[in-house]
Amino acid sequence: MAQYEGRWKTVKVSVEDSIAWVTLNRPEKRNAMNPTLNTEMREVLEEIELDEAAQVLVLTGAGDSWSAGMDLKEYFRETDAKPEIFELRVRRDACDWQWKILRMYSKPTIAMVNGWCFGGAFTPLVACDLAIAANEAVFGLSEINWGIPPGNLVSKAMADTVGHRQALYYIMTGETFTGVEAAAMGLVNKSVPRDQLRAATIELAQKLLVKNPVPLRAAKHGFKRCRELTWEQNEDYLYAKVDQARQRDREGGREKGLKQFLDEKSIKPGLQTYKR
Ligand code: COA
Repeated sequence: MAQYEGRWKTVKVSVEDSIAWVTLNRPEKRNAMNPTLNTEMREVLEEIELDEAAQVLVLTGAGDSWSAGMDLKEYFRETDAKPEIFELRVRRDACDWQWKILRMYSKPTIAMVNGWCFGGAFTPLVACDLAIAANEAVFGLSEINWGIPPGNLVSKAMADTVGHRQALYYIMTGETFTGVEAAAMGLVNKSVPRDQLRAATIELAQKLLVKNPVPLRAAKHGFKRCRELTWEQNEDYLYAKVDQARQRDREGGREKGLKQFLDEKSIKPGLQTYKR
């Protein structure tokens, strides 16, 4: 869409059929995340959040990479030489978009993993609600291979998605795994041949686009917080989400859904979504 054309140096954005395609755009550096990309991505996410034409966000990468992780030159080596506060700022900028904004984003998000996905890239990968990978994509926790433990929220992202043994195996060996393996271990929802990746992502986005966005947001936020809360806290929190969604929902989805099932008998909610 023209409004986003050429706006950012390291990120490309277009909106088509209610889907915002956000492409990390440093293919010559395998879309490694440098400080510029980190501040630009914060801006991109904030803008798209207010764009009513965009109802689902897809995060992908230009060329043959999703992202090769943090930029080893600009994010690590070059900040070593700067004052300590600079490094803290650079880290904060990375966290801002990679999980603080993205994880609780107000619109549904899908990571479309088209290729290389290393190290720091696992944070935005898991912060996205859903993920589809190309079978051929290559993932790796490469930190150990260049002499550091995983930083940012990479280990937390692994702990939230895959099993203990698999997480430690890849964290400690730095071995790579494919999109097919990532799907088998639950790091992504599924994997498909690379030439079907975009179509599969659109198909998934369309499933989300027909849902009422208000309860959809409450549902994902509720789930993402519930792991850290006790059962008692969850009772309060998740019921509060139900009440919040009902209050914020201008289309009265709950009443429509109940009416279509109970009175009109036109839908079975177990099998389909209500007609909006
Ligand atoms: N940080 C900085 N630069 C990176 C980068 C990263 N994470 N990943 C790739 N690049 C740069 C390379 O330095 C190279 O730059 P140059 O052309 O100026 O020399 C360019 O991107 C292409 O990389 P190259 O290694 O030639 O590409 P490849 O397709 O043969 O291999 C990878 C791709 C992703 C396997 C390889 O680049 C790699 O191992 N990258 C590091 C991944 C990593 O450890 N990330 C974790 C960070 S926490």
